[in-house]
Amino acid sequence: MVKNFLKFFTLLTLYNACLVSAHFSLFKIMNNGIELEYTKNGVLRKKDECNINFVNFGIDDDIDKISVNKEKPIFSISSSFNLKISNLKNGNEGLNSENYKFNNNEINNYVRVYQNDNEISNFSTSEEEAGYFSLTIKDLKSCDGITIKQTFKSELAIATYLLYSNVKPDDINKTFDVSHFGPSSNNTPYAIVHWDMNSGLDNLREKCGIYIDYTNIRDKTNGVYHWRWYLSTNNINGENCDNKEFYDIVKNSFNEDYDQMKELFGDFYEGYVLKREDAQYAHIDGILAEKQKYIIEIYQNQCNNQDQNQVICILSSNKKLNFEEFQKEFVENCESVIIDNKENAKWGIDANGVFAEFSQFKINIENKNYGKLPNSITEEITYKEFIEANSSGIARFNINMDCGEGSFVGDKCRCSACPLNCSKCNNGSSCEKCNEISTLVEGRCYCNSGYTENNDGICVVKPEPTVTITEVQPEPTVTVAGVDDNDDDDVDNENNNEVETPTPTQAIEEFNQTTISKTVNAIKQNDSNNKKPSSRKPKGKAIRKCRVKYH
Ligand SMILES: *[C@@H]1O[C@H](CO)[C@@H](O)[C@H](O)[C@H]1NC(C)=O
Ligand SMILES: *[C@@H]1O[C@H](CO)[C@@H](O)[C@H](O)[C@H]1NC(C)=O
Ligand SMILES: *[C@@H]1O[C@H](CO)[C@@H](O)[C@H](O)[C@H]1NC(C)=O
Ligand SMILES: *[C@@H]1O[C@H](CO)[C@@H](O)[C@H](O)[C@H]1NC(C)=O
Ligand SMILES: *[C@@H]1O[C@H](CO)[C@@H](O)[C@H](O)[C@H]1NC(C)=O
Ligand SMILES: *[C@@H]1O[C@H](CO)[C@@H](O)[C@H](O)[C@H]1NC(C)=O
Ligand SMILES: *[C@@H]1O[C@H](CO)[C@@H](O)[C@H](O)[C@H]1NC(C)=O
Repeated sequence: MVKNFLKFFTLLTLYNACLVSAHFSLFKIMNNGIELEYTKNGVLRKKDECNINFVNFGIDDDIDKISVNKEKPIFSISSSFNLKISNLKNGNEGLNSENYKFNNNEINNYVRVYQNDNEISNFSTSEEEAGYFSLTIKDLKSCDGITIKQTFKSELAIATYLLYSNVKPDDINKTFDVSHFGPSSNNTPYAIVHWDMNSGLDNLREKCGIYIDYTNIRDKTNGVYHWRWYLSTNNINGENCDNKEFYDIVKNSFNEDYDQMKELFGDFYEGYVLKREDAQYAHIDGILAEKQKYIIEIYQNQCNNQDQNQVICILSSNKKLNFEEFQKEFVENCESVIIDNKENAKWGIDANGVFAEFSQFKINIENKNYGKLPNSITEEITYKEFIEANSSGIARFNINMDCGEGSFVGDKCRCSACPLNCSKCNNGSSCEKCNEISTLVEGRCYCNSGYTENNDGICVVKPEPTVTITEVQPEPTVTVAGVDDNDDDDVDNENNNEVETPTPTQAIEEFNQTTISKTVNAIKQNDSNNKKPSSRKPKGKAIRKCRVKYH
C-alpha cells in the first residue's frame, strides 16, 4: 500500500509537472475547506484521506457538493471498506432529448471507476432524486488514486448556427437572442452534426483545460429533463484556449457529417461555444471570422428532404465580387451541388438569373432576397455590407437544379444517379422511365430481349448462341408459370426459356411485355422466398459506375 501511495504521489507530481507546461492547473479552495484542483486528468477533489478525481461531473459547486463517505461494516474485522459517493449529476439524462429513463443498471454502464491505473468493476449505482445518482465502490483497501469518470451513451446531436456579428462578445458563454443568428434569424439550424462527446470532452480537457460546465439548471423540454451546460473557451480556467484552438479541438471530434459544416462555413467560421440550453438539441454557435464584410447565402429551392430555409452553401468575401469571381467562389464553396469541380461549366445570365451549364446538369441561381444578381457579365454581384444580424447585409440567392437524363435532385440538392438503365426517376431506388433498350416493370429496368444483364447489372447485347447451347441446362428460375410443357424435350425447353436465352432470330421488336412481367413476377415470388435471382438484380457496386459521380 505504501508502494501504491508512493506511486500515486509520483503520478500526482508528474501531473503537476505536465500541468505547468500545459499552462493550466488551478487550485480552488471552497468555503467548506475542500480543495479542487483542475488538471488535465479531471477535477481532483481533496478532502481528508480520500482525494478523488472526477471526470465529466462538472466544475466548482458540482464537485464541491459531491459527498464522499467511507462505510465500514461495524463488526467487520477486515480493513476494507465501501466508499459511497453521492450527489453526482447524471449528464446522460435527456441527452439528445431521448426520453429514456436511467435506471440503476443503466447508469452503471456509463460510469468508469479506476484506482491508479486499474479499472475496477465492483461498484453499484443508485438513482437519486432530480437527475442525480450515487455510487458505491465495494471492498476498497484504500482510496488512493481513485478516478470516477462519466461517459456518454451516444454522440451528441448539435444544431449549428452562425452568429451574424463581427463583434465578438466579451463573454462567450452567454445565451444570445435567436434574432442574432442566421440563417434568416428563424431558428432553423444550418445543419445537425454529431459530436463524439466522450473523445470531445477528453480532448478539450487535456488540451485546453476545459471541463463540462453544468449551469445547475435542470430543464424540462419536450417532456425530457436534461442539465444545461456550456463548453466554451471561457470555462473555469484563466488560461483558456483561444477560439481557434478550441474550435480545432471541437472539430476533431465531429463525425464525418462535419464535412457538411465545412461546406457551409469553410474557413470563415469560428465555432466558439457548444452548449445545451432548453432546445431539443445541443447547439454550436458560430461566429464569423473577423473582417467578413459580405456574405452570400445560397438556399435550395426544391430538395424535398431539406428545409426550405436551409442554406446549402455560403460565399463570403471582403469585397464585392464580379461575375467571374462569383463563379469561382461558387464552385469552390458550393461543393454540395457541383458534382465535379474540375469541370468547366458554361456560365451565363438569362431571364431567370445566373446559370451554369455542366455536361450532366444545369444550375440556375435567382435572387431570393436582400441581394441583386447582375444583369450582365460585367456587372458586379450586388449586396450590402453587413454589420450585424438585423442589418440585413446578407445576400440570399436561390438555386434550382436541372438534373440531366438519368439523374435526379438527390441528397444535399446534388444531382444523383438514377437506377441502372433508367433515364428518368425521382429517387435512386425507383425508375419512372427506362432507356430504349430496357423496359420498366414496377420501378425497375429489365433488359429487352436480345439483351442480357452482365455482372454489373448492365444490359448488354446477348452473345450469339453457340453449338453448346443445347447442353445448357435451362435455368429453373426462368420457367414461367403458366407455360405448358412438362413432357417436352430439350428443344421445347429452350423455347420456354426464351427470355433468358433467346434464339438469334428474336429481335428487340419482338419483345413481349407479358413474358417479361411473368418472369418478373416469378422472380419476385422467389425473392419473397429469399431465393434471389443471381443475374437479374442490379448489384450495388454497379451503381457506382453510373455517369453521375458522387463526391
Ligand atoms: C464485490 O463486493 C461484494 C460486496 O462487498 C463482495 O461480496 C464481492 O465479493 C465483490 N466482488 C469482487 C469481484 O470483488
Ligand atoms: C462566463 O465566463 C466568464 C469568464 O470566465 C464568467 O465571469 C461568467 O460568470 C460566465 N458567465 C456565465 C453565464 O456562465
Ligand atoms: C440591431 O439590433 C440591436 C439590438 O439587438 C440594436 O441595438 C441595433 O440598433 C439594431 N441595428 C439595426 C441596424 O437595426
Ligand atoms: C445500362 O446502364 C449502364 C450504366 O449507365 C450503361 O453503361 C449501359 O450501356 C446501359 N445499358 C443499356 C442497354 O442501355
Ligand atoms: C421513389 O420514387 C417513387 C416514385 O417515383 C416512389 O413511389 C417511391 O416511394 C420513392 N422511394 C423512396 C425511397 O423515396
Ligand atoms: C423459383 O424457385 C423455385 C424453387 O424454389 C424454382 O423451381 C423456380 O423455377 C424459380 N422460378 C424463378 C422464376 O426463378
Ligand atoms: C407474349 O408471350 C406469351 C407467352 O409466351 C403469349 O401467350 C402472348 O400471346 C404473347 N403476347 C404478345 C403480345 O405477343
